[in-house]
Amino acid sequence: MRPDVPLSTAIAVAHPNIAFIKYWGNRDHALNLPMNGSLSMNLAGLMTRTRVTLMASLQSDRLFIDDEEVRDAPLHRVSSFLEHVRRMSGNETCALVESWNNFPIGTGIASSASAFAALSLAASRAYGLSLDEAALSRLARLGSGSACRSVPAGFVEWFAGKDDASSYAASIAPPEHWKLIDLIAVVSQERKLISSKEGHRLAASSILQAARVEDAPRRLKVCREALLARDFAQLSEIVELDSNLMHAVMMTSSPPLLYWQPATLEIMHAVVRWRQAGIPACYTTDAGPNVHVLCLEEWKEWLCKALGEIKGVSRVIEASPGGAAYYEERLSPPFDTSLPE
Ligand code: DP6
Repeated sequence: MRPDVPLSTAIAVAHPNIAFIKYWGNRDHALNLPMNGSLSMNLAGLMTRTRVTLMASLQSDRLFIDDEEVRDAPLHRVSSFLEHVRRMSGNETCALVESWNNFPIGTGIASSASAFAALSLAASRAYGLSLDEAALSRLARLGSGSACRSVPAGFVEWFAGKDDASSYAASIAPPEHWKLIDLIAVVSQERKLISSKEGHRLAASSILQAARVEDAPRRLKVCREALLARDFAQLSEIVELDSNLMHAVMMTSSPPLLYWQPATLEIMHAVVRWRQAGIPACYTTDAGPNVHVLCLEEWKEWLCKALGEIKGVSRVIEASPGGAAYYEERLSPPFDTSLPE
């Protein structure tokens, strides 16, 4: 066999997710065992597509993101993830990992979630493993905590668990359950300076983290019930509270993390004003300045236009509840990577 002939290849697609109840802080950083359970919605239309190819000719793993070769920290992160897969499969071959995104990465739209969910499926298949959904979710968690929630479909809960075996995510309602829309008001497409990986380590330095974590089971319950009952008013209240609590922890950690920009606050104020005027909308923000505005479908056009008119908003990306991560049988480009209008 020629050394550059691929030994096996697999490709998978995953959507990012937006957390309604956030994950912030770990009990175990190596295993990404979270301080609290979390709950999210997958984002249809936004996707990471990842191809993993095992090659005997490679001396070390290689990583391409959006057709550019990436080295240093991102490559090390992917390589140490692949080490888990190599250990599980007993196959030590190095891999070529190619990943394509159709949305801006590193800006608080959880690209590490879709990236490691897609990588878990593609890598485990390329290395010949056959894992069920819970095992894939656990594997994805090792790459990026929130990635475990991008493996199952629709509305997903990540059970904090006590150890590696019990910390994974499962669907609590399929995407069809509720046509919630996430309008992502993009304020900045610049990469954030402090990654969430570092942020999780800083969480414990905030005196507010203990209170946030202690109350998390209650918020999870309220959120789960609101979601299952399709109660938008109750969902709004708990989603905004949970996002504000996480940012309170971020802002009071040492060193403090301040992800919001002036436009972030403009949008949050506008959303509260609109809701007081009777429009079903609420906000949540991750580790970045962009604002996810959740709304009911009938209001999406109006809100999209209104958000687009706020100074500092460069674009608004729309996403509905998305399905599970999946394998793709077509192994070569061109792939359709356009964003839906
Ligand atoms: C703010 O899962 O990105 O988006 O495990 O280090 O990859 P790593 O962190 P990550 O953290 C996500 C944090 C968050 C909230 C959330 O999605 O729950």
